[in-house]
Amino acid sequence: MSTLGPPRSAAILVDDSAAGRGGGERLQKVLARAGLGSRRHCEILIEEGRVLVNGEPAILGRRVVPDVDEVVVDGVRIGVAPGLRYVLVHKPVGVVSTAADPEGRPTVVSLVDGDSRLFPVGRLDADTEGLIILTNDGDLTYRLTHPSFGVDKEYLVWVDGHPSRGSLRLLREGVTLDDGVTAPARVALVGPDLLRLTIHEGRNRQVRRMCESIGHPVRRLVRTRIGPLTDRRLKPGAWRDLSTDEVRALERASTGTAGD
Ligand code: URA
Repeated sequence: MSTLGPPRSAAILVDDSAAGRGGGERLQKVLARAGLGSRRHCEILIEEGRVLVNGEPAILGRRVVPDVDEVVVDGVRIGVAPGLRYVLVHKPVGVVSTAADPEGRPTVVSLVDGDSRLFPVGRLDADTEGLIILTNDGDLTYRLTHPSFGVDKEYLVWVDGHPSRGSLRLLREGVTLDDGVTAPARVALVGPDLLRLTIHEGRNRQVRRMCESIGHPVRRLVRTRIGPLTDRRLKPGAWRDLSTDEVRALERASTGTAGD
């Protein structure tokens, strides 16, 4: 997509790109819809050079095409496509987090008003409870599930026995599993048999295997946080759409500009 060069005549007020010809939307309108403030405020963001479209500084009058153009404000990508949806689900035990199950068990997708465009971001085991995101935003899914972006996931873990300080240290330092050593975890003992464990990797049954490796098999596992997202009031089986602020916070967390 070409960008707007110097005005060629007073009549040319907008860029001559596909967006301009094809009737994309005014950038400030898209930014306002994404929750960045009033249209006037969004115009100021553009004037201040804080908005990039497809990697290039935007100018006032720029139009963008949802699903095509990438818009970034202060380094954070903005969801421009009106069709993008982000849902937070509290998965109960017995529900699978794949989009379909050959054994016919209920899926997390089937919990959410039949919106078949949505896909789970990462996996929770059928016997694990807690928070999982569903979205049709493939880019965010990639970044949230890729270990190199380091998005934290926090779990409450009820285990057999009473882990010692030494076993917690092993989890903090990294334990050897059959697919390699785990990255250092954050661990707190919140009850004699209850751990709060935070990891940013997403290997298959990782928390269960980590706890098993220190001699404390998991009895119950609940995911309580994904990056900046948490919701203690969301009951098992319930779901809700994420707010624009939550989506932006996820974007920040998965581009490494947030603290977590
Ligand atoms: N670790 C596990 O062992 N299971 C999950 O579902 C998630 C993390």
